[in-house]
Amino acid sequence: MSSQVSTSNLLKESRIFNNPQQFIEGWYWVLASKELGKGKVKSINVIGRELAIYRDFDGQLVSVDAYCPHMGANLAEGKVEGNGLRCLFHNWKFDVEGNCIDIPCLGKSLPIKIKTFPTAEQYGMIWVWTGEVAKQPLPFVPELEFAECDAVFASRFIKNCHPNVVMINAIDAQHFNTVHNLPLKIIFGKEEINKNAIKFSNITRGGKDSLLIKLILPFYKKAGTYSMCYWYGSTGTVTIGPDFLHFHIMFTLRLLEGGKTEGQTILITKKRHGLHGWLLNLIVLWLTKLVGNYFAKGDTKIFQTIKFDLKTPLKADESILQFIQHVEKQDALNWGSWEVVDT
Ligand code: FES
Ligand SMILES: [Fe+2]
Repeated sequence: MSSQVSTSNLLKESRIFNNPQQFIEGWYWVLASKELGKGKVKSINVIGRELAIYRDFDGQLVSVDAYCPHMGANLAEGKVEGNGLRCLFHNWKFDVEGNCIDIPCLGKSLPIKIKTFPTAEQYGMIWVWTGEVAKQPLPFVPELEFAECDAVFASRFIKNCHPNVVMINAIDAQHFNTVHNLPLKIIFGKEEINKNAIKFSNITRGGKDSLLIKLILPFYKKAGTYSMCYWYGSTGTVTIGPDFLHFHIMFTLRLLEGGKTEGQTILITKKRHGLHGWLLNLIVLWLTKLVGNYFAKGDTKIFQTIKFDLKTPLKADESILQFIQHVEKQDALNWGSWEVVDT
């Protein structure tokens, strides 16, 4: 078999992958749950759109377009009142569905609505769906789909390239040897979970004959556990570790103006109860952080200066091509307006 692979026109014709003007409709991280207590409102720019996000006094989260339909004041300057948000400027009030319910100077309301977006919480993070109705689940760790979890935040970062390009790092098998000095042999199998999620899992066992491999292999019954599950081409969860203890590291990214990336690392483990469980999870999450740091270092310079252009794909880059294909099949929105891209 030739060591180079034919990509037909995939790379030339890709519309969404590594495109600074477009992104995939989906769930995107907004801010930490603990940064938004009851009765608080915050201003946030998510993929070029200005939002006001608040938590009402019942704990419900609401995300709305930031600019007031009266005169354009930023609603994040306003005040949460019961289950609604009141604009600071002329005190119009909007309910959780975005309906105007009070205009003080009229003594009544008008049939005006501000746009709202589905908003939810998972792994200590608030997420917004970038369309009217959420069509798919929040990003989750496949083997913890139904588990209650503990999660802590690790690094927040900016990268000088597109989120899709940052994401493929985790399935770039060659670079584990060259950048991260891991003598592992990794061959990925892919499994599409739904239209917006794909998982790549290592299906082989072993690596170069090294002390590390000899030491760790007894802890793996079958293939060495290493998998990456992608959501919306922008959030990915690495699962790694011996059979008795899997570490889960989520890298959740958003597209910034000009094709850059803003991201947050979240360390996740299943909840363990009692004092012992609490202590054990502190240790597990600390170890997860060390694993995450190991992978995060070494690539920093590359993402500062790369001009991604996979001109010469090898067989070893096949998973990257599969990821690009998966990205291309999803629904694209325009950066800033969040309008559906005409195809
Ligand atoms: S600008 Fe919001 S009430 Fe006037
Ligand atoms: Fe890397």
